[in-house]
Amino acid sequence: MIKRTEYLSKNYGKPEGWSLATYEAGGGYKSAKKALGMSREAVVEEMKKAHIRGRGGAGFDAGTKWSFMPKESKKPHYLVVNADEGEPGTFKDRTIMEQNPHALVEGCVIGCRGIGANAAYIFVRDELHLAKARLWGAIEEARAKGYLGARPFGVDYPVEVYVHTGAGAYICGEETALLNSLEGRRGEPRLKPPFPAQVGAFGCPTTVNNVETIAIAPTVFELGGDAFSQLSELHPLNDGGVRLFGVSGHVERPGIYECAVGLTLRELIYELGGGILGGRELLAVIPGGSSCPVHRADEIVSLPKDDRFAPWQGKSLLDLPLGVDTFRSAGSMLGTCCAIVLSDAVDPVLATHNLIKFYKHESCGQCTPCREGCGWIERILDKVVHGTATLDELDQITEIASNITGNTICAFGDGAAQPMLSFVSKFRPAFEDYVRTGGKSQTRTLEA
Ligand SMILES: Cc1cc2nc3c(=O)[nH]c(=O)nc-3n(C[C@H](O)[C@H](O)[C@H](O)COP(=O)(O)O)c2cc1C
Repeated sequence: MIKRTEYLSKNYGKPEGWSLATYEAGGGYKSAKKALGMSREAVVEEMKKAHIRGRGGAGFDAGTKWSFMPKESKKPHYLVVNADEGEPGTFKDRTIMEQNPHALVEGCVIGCRGIGANAAYIFVRDELHLAKARLWGAIEEARAKGYLGARPFGVDYPVEVYVHTGAGAYICGEETALLNSLEGRRGEPRLKPPFPAQVGAFGCPTTVNNVETIAIAPTVFELGGDAFSQLSELHPLNDGGVRLFGVSGHVERPGIYECAVGLTLRELIYELGGGILGGRELLAVIPGGSSCPVHRADEIVSLPKDDRFAPWQGKSLLDLPLGVDTFRSAGSMLGTCCAIVLSDAVDPVLATHNLIKFYKHESCGQCTPCREGCGWIERILDKVVHGTATLDELDQITEIASNITGNTICAFGDGAAQPMLSFVSKFRPAFEDYVRTGGKSQTRTLEA
């Protein structure tokens, strides 16, 4: 059964739902005050109990990440909030910034306390004009009330929050490219180590977290970490709490739905999303942003032999709960938890072609396998759709994508390769049709 919640989304769409008055009427800013009264270690411990798996895509435990920051340091510490949100099909963070900006500002106060920082930078993608305006407004309101500044809530622990505008490059969502961009450099990913917790923004220890990861922190401190974790159906897998689930593409009701962790794709697509647009059939789904592998509607999951995964072994992928470890163990990725739905009106070859154009355009060009590989695959797919490719070239797509995987400085390369590998292997007959018919067969329905 679907467990809808309203911790982040309660005031979505309400008049003045983003204002300080509305936020405070719902108990807002009590968590920040509480966290400022706690020791830094206690804040991190509470966050660890919540088992929040980073909402930016990699799913790293948020409290554990906070604990990596140095205990003693002569340099300032920074919290950097990743609000770049450039992943195709992902639009959850902008709803928080536009509809509930104070949750993010309050989360920044808590985050700063947890990592020993006195300043947070929110790095917002330039195109998100309303998000920036609402955040600036929220910061001003909070500062005027004495919740930010030299002595927030009268506590001797200064916290400032700044909005920094990005310049609209997808790669700047990668945390170290983001840090370079924040510093005014070219947005290219850095080699790791050193990790941001050692050398981050301006050479100082830094934690980079996603908007939703930080915006849910006030709820953790309101309920307590354990109680928050147990809201999830997957808390025994240490995947705690509630999160924003997105669904877009060919569904009747695309949107953002807040629910307990444990929701399945079937529930997201057919119940919350209202089913497939125009009463058509589901062809495929990409679970969490375009960098995840695509899955056919009829896929069965094969999970490791582990009691924790037993309930879903051998079942339809659509009935696998959307969790970090459930999807990883099934050979997929949860990513941003914003599913892209493709109906059987979609031509998977054209969808693949469309995706590679994006990745080719957005590759920063630093690493040869990614720079050359994305361009090479794009050229082959150009030939496929124009009917001049050979069957050997279909195999080359797989070979090139496999050579990108794991051979680049950052995860962009894997993110570009995953959709290529999965589309070509799962919809091979459609690609072969293009080759055999000289591109005249724009396949719209598929045989297995
Ligand atoms: C190409 C690329 C783009 C990314 N874009 C974003 C993004 O827009 N927002 C985000 O939060 N994380 C993004 N990430 C993930 C970040 O590098 C990082 O893991 C995340 O901000 C950490 O936050 P979290 O631990 O709270 O999830 C991206 C990663 C890659 C490789």
